[in-house]
Amino acid sequence: MTPSDADYQRAVDLLIAGELVALPTETVYGLGADAARPSAVAKIFAAKGRPADHPLIVHVAGHDAVDRWAEQVPDVAWELMEAFWPGPLTLILKKQAWVPDAVTGGQDTVGLRVPGHPVALELLRRFARAQGEHAGIAAPSANRFGRISPTTAGHVAEELGSRVSLILDGGPCKVGIESTIVDCSRGEPVILRPGHISPMHLEAVLGRQPVVETAVGAPRVSGSLEAHYAPVTPLRMVSGERLLDFINAQRHRGGKCAVISANQPPQAGMPHAWRLMPADPVGYAHDLYAALRDMDHAGVDLIVVEALPADAAWTAVADRLRRAVAGAGQI
Ligand code: TXA
Ligand code: MG
Repeated sequence: MTPSDADYQRAVDLLIAGELVALPTETVYGLGADAARPSAVAKIFAAKGRPADHPLIVHVAGHDAVDRWAEQVPDVAWELMEAFWPGPLTLILKKQAWVPDAVTGGQDTVGLRVPGHPVALELLRRFARAQGEHAGIAAPSANRFGRISPTTAGHVAEELGSRVSLILDGGPCKVGIESTIVDCSRGEPVILRPGHISPMHLEAVLGRQPVVETAVGAPRVSGSLEAHYAPVTPLRMVSGERLLDFINAQRHRGGKCAVISANQPPQAGMPHAWRLMPADPVGYAHDLYAALRDMDHAGVDLIVVEALPADAAWTAVADRLRRAVAGAGQI
């Protein structure tokens, strides 16, 4: 599962040549290009089918690179980096003037992250050795726009096929959902996208509760579009109490359904497929995208997800599922 020396060398050569390389991170697989080169970054948008005004996250090897990409970095941002990098946290900071519009979507900010995956870090270090210590790899999730993010190298191949020159295989992603995004460019830190690093984790460092962005569509975070992370098969969220009735009604109508649930299937009224999920939010997040992808391929007419517990620990998973429901096919 660990790339060879030759694999890394090829990846660096491709990046230098302005080509795309898919790389594992601890959250999801990314589709990477040299972030300093607009023509390389343009290939990411083409391969994903993503609108060009959506900004990308720049991945760097360490804190030392931050000042090259960002300016007026507030103390609070350094504190968060110290606490959570390498790891699943992206910081939005005021960008340096030279940073290409292709990366920032024309905004005056840039998203930065040091990923906590050994293969991503090794690639970033080697790329930095070749290009200068501040080199960055722009990488959105390695899926077609609006679709389910990939958490294995196989998923990337399924999504992008020959659109990507090389996929570095680093095994299944540990976290399974995208990084928490915190905007530190507007004074008080604001959570733009929930993730594995929770408001509680952030509060422990900040000493106060972080603000959570609620205005729909305010900053341009594509993960904040209402429809995202979606299977092609229609997807419904149904409460535990209604689940059995719902499945039975579906069957009487002649429809095949698959269920994603943290509970065992009931004895009676079995649906076509049942994906048993971990009952804790971290485990559930880890399995979420693979489960959606598998059920999308199960040959059913409808995917039913049992509603999640309402407490704060489930916020990030609930966020992704809500958008998956909004973006899925129509019944
Ligand atoms: O975990 C992750 O963050 C993964 C891995 C590959 O690092 N990447 C990822 O990228 O999720 P992507 O492009 O699918 O989502 C990144 C989000 C986008 O929604 C983008 O709009 C937002 O980060 N973003 C990037 N730069 C931004 C900026 N300057 N202001 C606001 N949002 C920004
Ligand atoms: Mg994405």
